[in-house]
Amino acid sequence: MAETNLILLGPPGAGKGTQAERLQADFALAHISTGDMLRAQVAQGTELGAEAQKFMNAGELVPDEVILGMIAQRISEQDAQDGFLLDGFPRNVEQADALAAMLVDGQRRLTAALLIEVSDDEVVRRLAGRRVCMKSGHVYHVEFDPPKHEDVCDQDGSRLIQREDDREETIRRRLEVYRRQTAPLIDYYEDAGVLRRFDGRRNPNEVHNHIRATVATLRMEDKL
Ligand code: AP5
Ligand code: MG
Repeated sequence: MAETNLILLGPPGAGKGTQAERLQADFALAHISTGDMLRAQVAQGTELGAEAQKFMNAGELVPDEVILGMIAQRISEQDAQDGFLLDGFPRNVEQADALAAMLVDGQRRLTAALLIEVSDDEVVRRLAGRRVCMKSGHVYHVEFDPPKHEDVCDQDGSRLIQREDDREETIRRRLEVYRRQTAPLIDYYEDAGVLRRFDGRRNPNEVHNHIRATVATLRMEDKL
């Protein structure tokens, strides 16, 4: 079967990570989140992590050269050969062009860019109530998706914390950066004929069902 290579696109808090966890399991794809990769570098105390953290805490994009090096390496790894799910990348036209070039070089192609749409007010509500686990970044929401025991991850028992960049003023800045730098990718992928839109206001299961059905159809079409 042809590999399934997907991009999850959408503002901060749209539910990219939430949906990625589910889709990864449905279709056995490598989940590649640049945000998670950067946070792992910060946690390990690397030089790259220290440099990236300044941009992340300010709600700005980390420079392209850092991100592109990470992605080129990651999509060439063994577990990404049957397909990948990019979450939080690309985030501007330069990164999208660089990804296109990497795919051409590897004789690979993009299956779809999945856009999850939500309003700014909903983004603020979601991010203000988000909790993530310290060990693997599993995602919860105090109101919309609470863990079974307060502040403890259902999956690995580690403590739940708030992300450093989930403060209201940083959230506002991240939304501005999204609008200015990332939103142009909606037209970019529409023009390329690969954009699929999803209503992200529905509950996580409904959003998941819609995306899963669309991806399943695209995979069937690929087989024909
Ligand atoms: P990144 O980690 O990618 O953050 P983001 O894009 O801002 O998105 P989030 O992770 O905040 O939200 P999400 O869409 O994953 O939502 P989630 O599923 O968690 O990037 C962080 C930073 O790293 C950037 O600001 C930048 O500095 C840097 N960076 C990363 N990639 C980069 C790149 N390519 N180039 C340059 N810099 C880069 O859900 C949010 C909350 O809502 C959760 O609490 C969840 O439980 C809840 N929720 C989810 N779905 C629903 C639903 N349907 N209904 C109700 N609640 C829901
Ligand atoms: Mg995320």
